[in-house]
Amino acid sequence: MFEKRPQSWFSRLRAKTVGILSMALATAFLAVSCAGGSGSGGSTTVAAAGIAPDIVADYIHTVMAADRTAYTKHVVNRLKKLEGKDKPDGVIDAEANEAWQQTDGIPLPAQMFRLGSEIASDGSPFTYNLISTWNINDNHAPKTDFEKKAMDTVNETGEPYKEYQEVGGKQYFSALYPDKAVAEACVTCHNTHPVHLERFPDKVFEMGEVMGGVIINIPVDGAA
Ligand code: HEC
Repeated sequence: MFEKRPQSWFSRLRAKTVGILSMALATAFLAVSCAGGSGSGGSTTVAAAGIAPDIVADYIHTVMAADRTAYTKHVVNRLKKLEGKDKPDGVIDAEANEAWQQTDGIPLPAQMFRLGSEIASDGSPFTYNLISTWNINDNHAPKTDFEKKAMDTVNETGEPYKEYQEVGGKQYFSALYPDKAVAEACVTCHNTHPVHLERFPDKVFEMGEVMGGVIINIPVDGAA
């Protein structure tokens, strides 16, 4: 999906990110060993470093949510337009819209999130994604039985759902965090989106409601 030049740039960035992540894991491992933890030596799984997977999932989710909010607040909100509508506080003569590649615009926050997730998940057993019962993008449909059950539960409770699951013989710790309508723009844009209107004509989002969720899958094979 990416053109040649950006791809090599992305690959380099990914290699760098993996490097930084390994360093962070190594540091965490060292910290636990020094504190008297019984490291098994050589293992790089998160559990072996002594951090419970549900805490790791919470940390990762905190970073993702913070990045998405910062992008919305400090980039998208500074543009003069959002999906064809004028933004009174905009100072940069540009627009965020779904067809950003065709219009020289910039991606919407959910698209930015997916672009990052595609890079991070490429060739890696660690994956994350946005999903929703009322998805605009096909890639965001809850697909597995696990995702369907997790999404139904989160829709009902509004709380995160966390559980171990096995996929292709591998053990994962998975967590689904609710993505709620925290701003009027969330509900207005989704409720009037042509794909939403066609697929879910009866679903009208309200403020504070669960609109979907962020699923994080952490491989825990080899963990005690
Ligand atoms: C200007 C329009 C717009 C606004 C504002 C907006 N969204 Fe979206 N949202 C979209 C579009 C378009 C997609 C599909 C993006 C893609 O192709 O990946 C999407 C995707 C999503 C998804 C993944 C499921 C799906 O529909 O594909 C969730 C969950 C979501 N948005 C929640 C929110 C929340 C919560 C807010 C407010 C904080 C918000 N959105 C604000 C347009 C918008």
